[in-house]
Amino acid sequence: MKNQVSEFLQVRRSVVAKKMIATAPKEHHLEDILKCGLRVPDHSNVQPWKIIILKGDAREKFSMEVILPAAKARAKASNEPLTAAMETLELARMQRGGVVLTVLSTPTIPHKIPLWEQQLTSGAACSHLLIAAQSFDYAAQWLTEWPAYDPSVIKALGGDPQKDLVAGFIHIGEKIDPPTERKRPDPDQMIRYWS
Ligand SMILES: Cc1cc2nc3c(=O)[nH]c(=O)nc-3n(C[C@H](O)[C@H](O)[C@H](O)COP(=O)(O)O)c2cc1C
Repeated sequence: MKNQVSEFLQVRRSVVAKKMIATAPKEHHLEDILKCGLRVPDHSNVQPWKIIILKGDAREKFSMEVILPAAKARAKASNEPLTAAMETLELARMQRGGVVLTVLSTPTIPHKIPLWEQQLTSGAACSHLLIAAQSFDYAAQWLTEWPAYDPSVIKALGGDPQKDLVAGFIHIGEKIDPPTERKRPDPDQMIRYWS
């Protein structure tokens, strides 16, 4: 009997955000994708993450009210003015896909579960969201880029910049072309049996 999950995982590919059409997934697909994102291994059920959805007009609002001011502040701090072209790029950043699922790592500190393990589970949530979106044949990519590391962006997402981190922005849209394969790790270099 074929194992469809295993077969899919061995061929799935991300589609870069700049190559996707900004169509949001169907609502019932999005619900399934989100359910998959929540069903991840999580030591002691700490649930140390939040998923923040940027969809529809919220993408533009977030771009105008959060991304652009943060980009301007960064430019000012580095004494490099934000050109009109850069401004356009920043405004488009969260609107390349039809929806952006932000996974915010929100660990409990202190906690008996080490911080690293709490952060790993956020990465698992990103993987599940990405893979689930790709399983419906959507274009999807896991990105961080500079906004993930900007305290004002973390705050606007409802996080505490002192301890919370953006694990990923999962951009989801529609494919234009099927992605070509990229170089994959050589199993002989990566995997070994300990003896
Ligand atoms: C945590 C994380 C952050 C990433 N951030 C970026 C990024 O900021 N910019 C980028 O071009 N790719 C980034 N990537 C890489 C792409 O999402 C993706 O791994 C790559 O396009 C190949 O994906 P595939 O193996 O799913 O085909 C990131 C990947 C991970 C796991």
